[in-house]
Amino acid sequence: MRAVVCPELGPLEGLVVEERESLVPGEGQVVVDVRAAGVNFVDGLICQGKYQIKPPTPFVPGSEVAGQVSAIGAGVSGFEVGDRVIAFTGFGGFAEQAVVPALSLIPMPDTVDFAQAATLLQSYCTVLFTLTRRTTLSPGEWVLVLGAGGGIGLAATDVATALGGRVIAAASTPDKLEAARAVGAEATIAYEEEDLKVRAREISGGGVDVVVDSVGGRHSEAALRATRQFGRFCVLGFASGPIASIPLNLVLLNNRTVVGVDWGGWTFQDPMDNRALIGELMELVGSARLHPAHPAEYRLSEAAAVMGGLIDRSVGGKAVLVP
Ligand SMILES: NC(=O)c1ccc[n+]([C@@H]2O[C@H](COP(=O)([O-])OP(=O)(O)OC[C@H]3O[C@@H](n4cnc5c(N)ncnc54)[C@H](OP(=O)(O)O)[C@@H]3O)[C@@H](O)[C@H]2O)c1
Repeated sequence: MRAVVCPELGPLEGLVVEERESLVPGEGQVVVDVRAAGVNFVDGLICQGKYQIKPPTPFVPGSEVAGQVSAIGAGVSGFEVGDRVIAFTGFGGFAEQAVVPALSLIPMPDTVDFAQAATLLQSYCTVLFTLTRRTTLSPGEWVLVLGAGGGIGLAATDVATALGGRVIAAASTPDKLEAARAVGAEATIAYEEEDLKVRAREISGGGVDVVVDSVGGRHSEAALRATRQFGRFCVLGFASGPIASIPLNLVLLNNRTVVGVDWGGWTFQDPMDNRALIGELMELVGSARLHPAHPAEYRLSEAAAVMGGLIDRSVGGKAVLVP
């Protein structure tokens, strides 16, 4: 089977596609024939050695897949060969096959195809965790989503809309803003050209209730200033690079709250609670209350280019590798 291999942490150009032995499931494991592997911003950071998790090399990147069960190890029940499943692999997803513990397999809802399913876990779980565990969202509240055309941004727009929120999408290009509108954004702000604080206050009639910030940099302070009384500013990431330093008086004013979000860390500390979160997500997807964007599809050999495109901002929306 073919797999994308990262021989050592460093420039993405170093990635290679290798032919490897077919995988055999151990006890409690299942082999999944990967139909699509979700590509996330963080995958590129990991391969470059710029993320807090530094795996031993060589390794196969790719943290989430959708596919079909092709082999079942001893002691596994509840799954059959051919079942359509989603799995969080951690590593090993950018390949024709992935081996995963049966306990981490999730039956794939019929409402999505393999490509959509392969992009659900990381970004949608992060956002559902943000809007239901780290803060709550009441119907009718305004949510300002930064980087709304990216992976987290599209998921935030979709989830916030499903929870009854009214989304203002902020992004850099018309294409990204249009993508956010397609998953539910009610209004848009081209934040490289327009005044983010002024426009967000205008659109929301005084200020937004929640900010979802996975971008960081210069937009963070403007977004915090755009929140109204009791506003919640959720810090998810720093895709633009710089981590904003924000004067704390802005938190005092208007009784605002800054909310840190570390979904990945929480999954290790509270795996059972994460199972419940995934269950809620699958219920929302299965009942068609969420409408995941259809990702752009690439070949395994394009893994480095796609990860590079997410990091240099040239690839927008969701992306998957189709082995
Ligand atoms: N806290 C958590 O638990 C958690 C979980 C998953 C991911 N994350 C983090 O969330 C961040 C976003 O992840 P993602 O998967 O949504 O990434 P993505 O799909 O690449 O989207 C990131 C967005 O950031 C914006 N951006 C602004 N300046 C940028 C720059 N200089 N370079 C790249 N992007 C820039 C881009 O939108 P515009 O072009 O419109 O500005 C882009 O669409 C990452 O930092 C990731 O590590 C955090």
